[in-house]
Amino acid sequence: MQRPVTTLRLSPQIKVKVLNAGFQTLDDVMQVSALELSREAGLSQEEALEVLQVARKEGGADGGGAGDGASLTALDLLQKEEALTRIVTFSSRLDAALGGGLPVGKITEICGVPGMGKTQLCLQLAVDVQVPPCFGGLGGQVVFIDTEGSFVVQRAVDLATAAVRHCTLLAEEAEQRDAAAAFTVETILSNIFMVRCHDYVELLAEIYLLPDFLSSHPKVRLVVIDSVAFPFRQHFDELRAQRTRLLNGLAQQLISMATKHDVAVVLSNQMTTRLQGGQSQLVPALGESWGHAPTLRLLLRWAGSQRQATIFKSPDCEEATVNYQITTDGFRDDDRSEQPPSKRPRTLAGQSAAC
Ligand code: GTP
Ligand code: MG
Repeated sequence: MQRPVTTLRLSPQIKVKVLNAGFQTLDDVMQVSALELSREAGLSQEEALEVLQVARKEGGADGGGAGDGASLTALDLLQKEEALTRIVTFSSRLDAALGGGLPVGKITEICGVPGMGKTQLCLQLAVDVQVPPCFGGLGGQVVFIDTEGSFVVQRAVDLATAAVRHCTLLAEEAEQRDAAAAFTVETILSNIFMVRCHDYVELLAEIYLLPDFLSSHPKVRLVVIDSVAFPFRQHFDELRAQRTRLLNGLAQQLISMATKHDVAVVLSNQMTTRLQGGQSQLVPALGESWGHAPTLRLLLRWAGSQRQATIFKSPDCEEATVNYQITTDGFRDDDRSEQPPSKRPRTLAGQSAAC
């Protein structure tokens, strides 16, 4: 695009720095990464990201927003909803409560206090999305963005081994036997594209670059961010408004990515304490406005010594709670308590206000 950088909606100081570094047109700017732009133009990494976002938006490269939406009819939307594919969780109760699994094309947030199994569920989904179609899976690939350094490859091997065993046992027809033979631990690991992000700048840069990666890797059906809270809970004590602005931008990019590339976006989130009416409540971190980003929120929590998963924000599932456990093989139903999924009142104490 030959449009001059001077016409972009950026502050004059930033434009001067970009021009002085030799970037004249949108084409020039869009050929470099945020880190390169920051180094070459003497911008902070955040300013460089802003330049790339504005260039992309005003240059029409992301194509998101009203333009795309306006060409859809209600019938298109209905057909899209009906064709929605889902990723099974390997907990049949949770899958049943979710209407078949986690939806592709939407954002799901998994919340819970430390040790509840958020990372385990993310890993489980990274394996499950690869289950061959003849076994009811998507045969997909996954991008796993680890912001906490909690991805343990041996644990991925354990979960993959269990999934392979499961499919091998189920295989009856010739097609299933062939698919099971090709579904190996090595294949599963090679289909997990790992990204380690150490801070929010690296995370934002990765999300900015991800659409191009997804375009060249159409088999990716799942993007995991474990966790989205960690990078944004540091460095922002005095800068709440800036954090909210960055999170709003991130939410928009994730929504657009999930829709356009037809991927499930799964985020893990931590819990934080909020004071209301003199009482403290545990609520998902990152504030109320972030709560609008996910279509679906899953809360993992203890009920005594029982692990429970509650769906507490979903337009198309009733609120429900199921028991689960983390076994050597991964995230599973808890068969020790034979209860059907229980419906819960709409107001979950301490949670509903943050939805
Ligand atoms: P934070 O990231 O600290 O917020 O916690 P988290 O919610 O991500 O918890 P995580 O997914 O790391 O789950 C930790 C729990 O999973 C542990 O308390 C164990 O109960 C269980 N777990 C983790 N690894 C294994 C394993 O190899 N075998 C078994 N059986 N359980 C495991
Ligand atoms: Mg974790």
